[in-house]
Amino acid sequence: MKVNFNQALSLLQKNEVVAIPTETVYGLAGSITSEDALRKIFETKKRPFFDPLIVHISTLDDIDKIFDNPPSVIKKLADTFWPGPLTIVFKKQKHISNLITAGLPTVAVRMPNHKDALRLISKLRKPIAAPSANIFMRTSPTSAFHVEEEFGEKIPVFDGGDCQIGIESTVIGIDSHNNKLEIYRPGAILKSDLEKVVSPEFQVVYKNSESSPGQLKNHYQPAKPLFVVSHPDEIFTPFFDKFSKKMELVLPLDPLLAARQLYAVMRSLSKENIDLIYLVEDKYPKDGLWESLWERIQKASTPLPS
Ligand code: TXA
Ligand code: MG
Repeated sequence: MKVNFNQALSLLQKNEVVAIPTETVYGLAGSITSEDALRKIFETKKRPFFDPLIVHISTLDDIDKIFDNPPSVIKKLADTFWPGPLTIVFKKQKHISNLITAGLPTVAVRMPNHKDALRLISKLRKPIAAPSANIFMRTSPTSAFHVEEEFGEKIPVFDGGDCQIGIESTVIGIDSHNNKLEIYRPGAILKSDLEKVVSPEFQVVYKNSESSPGQLKNHYQPAKPLFVVSHPDEIFTPFFDKFSKKMELVLPLDPLLAARQLYAVMRSLSKENIDLIYLVEDKYPKDGLWESLWERIQKASTPLPS
């Protein structure tokens, strides 16, 4: 069910959840001070309580109200990349609900680069918690229509247009003791972008999935199985014989366009009368933003038998 700006605001004020646009993907939003709203987010998504949520803010002043003694590197990153697709994980202040953080001592925060999302948060006069607005483990929505497909009439959606980035934010943690910035989830803000801002003081490293409870091996999965093959001929090997109807997932080579389209294409192919979707790895680059795209594609895909 579509709602307008004032209805979305009023629902948030009444501690209801509303799907809202951001530049990355649509979020399922609720006030950070409402345990009811936070619980409803988890229930709606069928998300386990061990997987923490991201707090979305609309002003840099909120940094000091959420993080406990944030070091200057956080301010530097926020000044450079916010509003934008970067989520920073750091020690939380006591008042931040354990429901948001899954009982962790840290909290994830970002300022979305979407005018409607920013206006909603600032009019609500408090931050909102919002995970991606999809059923747990499934493909994130990049349009209001996708959210309606996912949740039907159950969840009100504020339509702010198609998401301009199209994949979820880069999530980083700060290890102040060892002067390390750790990438938990790659996204549109790349390792090289972060290095430009924090090097040589901080070293930027990729961190394995245990650091971020939501970084499971399988994620973002479309409704039809997706297989990644390296070469088009592989689709004619015996394993694929049992699937009669197959369609190729084709992406533009420009990574900005590919990111914007990836989830929408995964969704639309899943609606075709086919048995599987395949993507030919050799056709696409590996570096830059493609690295983040490959992380999503690998997690969305079904492994080939070895
Ligand atoms: O672009 C985005 O980040 C979107 C939009 C709506 O803002 N949100 C999003 O939320 O992707 P979600 O909940 O689907 O993913 C949040 C990720 C998960 O992998 C979660 O484990 C990680 O952030 N995360 C949240 N709090 C954390 C914490 N305290 N420590 C480590 N990882 C954390
Ligand atoms: Mg998600």
